Amino acid sequence: MATAVPPAASRIAVVTGASSGIGAATARRLAEAGYRVVLTARRKDRIEALAEEITAAGHQATAYPLDVTDREAVDEFATAFRTVGVLVNNAGGALGADPVATGDPDDWRTMYETNVLGTLHLTQALLPKLDASGDGTVVVVSSTAGHSTYEGGAGYVAAKHGAHVLAETLRLEIVGRPVRVIEIAPGMVRTEEFALTRFGGDTERAEKVYRGVPDPLTADDVADTITWAVTRPPHVNIDLLVVRPRAQASNTKVHREL
Ligand SMILES: NC(=O)c1ccc[n+]([C@@H]2O[C@H](COP(=O)([O-])OP(=O)(O)OC[C@H]3O[C@@H](n4cnc5c(N)ncnc54)[C@H](OP(=O)(O)O)[C@@H]3O)[C@@H](O)[C@H]2O)c1
Repeated sequence: MATAVPPAASRIAVVTGASSGIGAATARRLAEAGYRVVLTARRKDRIEALAEEITAAGHQATAYPLDVTDREAVDEFATAFRTVGVLVNNAGGALGADPVATGDPDDWRTMYETNVLGTLHLTQALLPKLDASGDGTVVVVSSTAGHSTYEGGAGYVAAKHGAHVLAETLRLEIVGRPVRVIEIAPGMVRTEEFALTRFGGDTERAEKVYRGVPDPLTADDVADTITWAVTRPPHVNIDLLVVRPRAQASNTKVHREL
């Protein structure tokens, strides 16, 4: 069936959390796939350096510093576009691994604000632009933590369940409009900052997360998965894709060679 969808080269892909890990890798991959990528994150220097790297490789990229929890800034950001082809809601992460009994409510609040409200802000602000593109895609990078829990994970698990529900509900609500909603739920991904951020810069605790695990996923593995899902034909909606390393059978069943 013929569509009026413009080619990727004329289409914009906004990636949040593009200053490191999965977001940075996704920006590289989408740029290689022909999208004009817009990199956002709070750290201006990092997204500007990545935009330069992508541009030097012959692709199109711009950097726009943005805190996804700042609704006013997000609304201002959205005014820069007439249409947007792809929005990758990737910004987020975990803070702490305390039991419910002793978890820090401030950590829970920050995780909800970043993983859920950040996704809500960007999605609300850009939905009219995604609609206007005639073939929009919203990607929500949730987690396997959005699908089952584990001890010490409740704050993050609750937030990622929120992101999952946002994606699932949005898909119901906008059916019939030209916008797909794709949820990518990665398991264990070894990125340079995720576990470090979770444990407040404690390198020993961060390293322990991956200790003995043969080949956790890399940021590029997840970026590849996201890019594959995004580049399916417009009528194909990959609702939910769970991707884990072979060594991880569930959130609590991980093979380690120690
Ligand atoms: N690594 C894993 O095992 C794993 C597994 C499943 C799902 N995930 C999810 O995948 C996503 C990326 O994770 P990652 O491993 O790539 O982690 P990461 O390297 O720590 O990246 C997190 C990104 O989010 C950005 N960010 C955080 N708070 C933000 C805010 N308020 N406003 C704007 N940007 C913000 C950070 O940029 P700035 O600090 O520059 O703002 C950074 O670019 C997260 O949503 C995470 O929960 C990760």
